Amino acid sequence: MQAFGIDIGGTGIKAAPVDIAAGTLLAERKKILTPQPSTPEAVADVVRDLTRDFGWTGITGATFPGVVTSGTVRTAANVDKGWIGTDAAALFGKVTGGDVSVLNDADAAGVAEMRFGAGKGERGTVLLLTFGTGVGSALFTDGVLVPNTEFGHIEIRGKDAESRASERGKQHHGWGWKEWAQRVGEYMHQIEALLSPDLIIVGGGISKEADKWVPLLTGVRAKIVPAALQNDAGIVGAALAATTMAQTGSAASGVVAASGAAASGTTTGKAAGE
Ligand code: BGC
Repeated sequence: MQAFGIDIGGTGIKAAPVDIAAGTLLAERKKILTPQPSTPEAVADVVRDLTRDFGWTGITGATFPGVVTSGTVRTAANVDKGWIGTDAAALFGKVTGGDVSVLNDADAAGVAEMRFGAGKGERGTVLLLTFGTGVGSALFTDGVLVPNTEFGHIEIRGKDAESRASERGKQHHGWGWKEWAQRVGEYMHQIEALLSPDLIIVGGGISKEADKWVPLLTGVRAKIVPAALQNDAGIVGAALAATTMAQTGSAASGVVAASGAAASGTTTGKAAGE
């Protein structure tokens, strides 16, 4: 079984066909920088181009770096605000000519890690945190996703946690590993006080260098492990969610996706705060 995954981030848009049984990419992924401004139309053009580049016509899933309910974007912290209220599933369906399931980027990465990676077989409370342009979160309880959590936006020292703990924040302020890890540690401490996760999986591009900063995180009780699929987790998770949607018409086994343009219309995600 194969499906196409598109991972839309604030900085780059990556795509590749995925072997759903193995959770691996079937071809080298392609990456295009996120257009600036990242309006729905501009991003949809990239989605169309990537789909065409691979000559893809089958099951397709896409991630989005914000809250997504029933295919519609509700928040856009790191992309053009024109996305808010946009039916991304319908828009991508129109440009690609097929159904496209859309879900939050961190949720997609989490779904992939729970199925194939660092969270495989893990019960209890598992939290995946992605550190990139923003900070994303995916919360699982006994393998089931609670969709659209936004723990990157809790307040720490009067600031959005994301501005202190994201990889972008590190780059922007020129923080070294130690300095940044201190901020991430403080953030995780707060998160731990709220959620008591058994396991925290750290993802995003910076998880490739986990050995440089994970050992510096002190005072966190939960086990902390780097994501196994690293940068491919979003692509794999998007493809996996879309496959589940196509097969069942609804969410199953902890995989939650919004319906595609012409799909059954089943609402499978309920946003926090809805
Ligand atoms: C967004 C989340 C997203 C995360 C990572 C945050 O700013 O609010 O929805 O998952 O960035 O892209």
